[in-house]
Amino acid sequence: MIQMQRITKNYRLGELDVPVLKGIDLSIAPGEYVAIMGMSGSGKSTLMNIIGCLDRATSGNYTLNGVDLTTLDDDQLAYIRNQQIGFVFQQFNLLTRSTALENVMLPMVYGGLPLAQRRDRATEVLFKVGLGDRLLNRPSQLSGGQQQRVAIARALVNDPALILADEPTGALDQKTSQEVMGLLAELSQQGITIAIVTHEPDIAHQAQRIIYVQDGLVLNRSHNLVS
Ligand SMILES: Nc1ncnc2c1ncn2[C@@H]1O[C@H](COP(=O)(O)OP(=O)(O)O)[C@@H](O)[C@H]1O
Ligand SMILES: [Mg+2]
Repeated sequence: MIQMQRITKNYRLGELDVPVLKGIDLSIAPGEYVAIMGMSGSGKSTLMNIIGCLDRATSGNYTLNGVDLTTLDDDQLAYIRNQQIGFVFQQFNLLTRSTALENVMLPMVYGGLPLAQRRDRATEVLFKVGLGDRLLNRPSQLSGGQQQRVAIARALVNDPALILADEPTGALDQKTSQEVMGLLAELSQQGITIAIVTHEPDIAHQAQRIIYVQDGLVLNRSHNLVS
């Protein structure tokens, strides 16, 4: 599903070019469920943003689902992002003035489906995440766990091959975190590829494999985590 070779990312800060990713080699198989761990500032979110086509690498090769992304222009990249990737963020990132249903319908605006079909599909996915009775609630009228389930429904609505979740339980209590993790486990069983960033070992161990990022590099299993 994901093949990265020697991926680097520099951020420009005034006159300085600050290296953040320093040559990431990473493969994630179709259907795999991985957790990404590492210290704050190690580059996990930067890596997720590149995996998810929200940002581009400075150098290196990245192939997603057989497509060499380095050859694509911004519009082609945006299309792949919309069709193949679902995102879930720590702070849910829902539109606060829109209902659960409207939030979940949003990624379908580019698909050319008629409104009624978009509404049916969004409703179906909200039922799937257990929010069939909350379609018309705004985010402020939902608990944190419910808001994250709306975000997961939004991530699922275009039937993506890949779900990326950057600290999806970071703003949730333990019980709600486990509900969200249960939902991700179900999606994994259905064959969706999942990558989740977390700093909680309990959460990470629910994935099939843990990838450690340290100072802009993916650690080999042979490396010692203690630096
Ligand atoms: N847009 C940006 N501009 C400049 N520096 C950034 C930007 N985003 C992240 N960084 C820096 O890159 C490093 C890695 O950040 P990030 O990927 O968010 O780490 P993590 O998610 O592992 O905490 C940090 O030092 C951070 O300050
Ligand atoms: Mg981060």
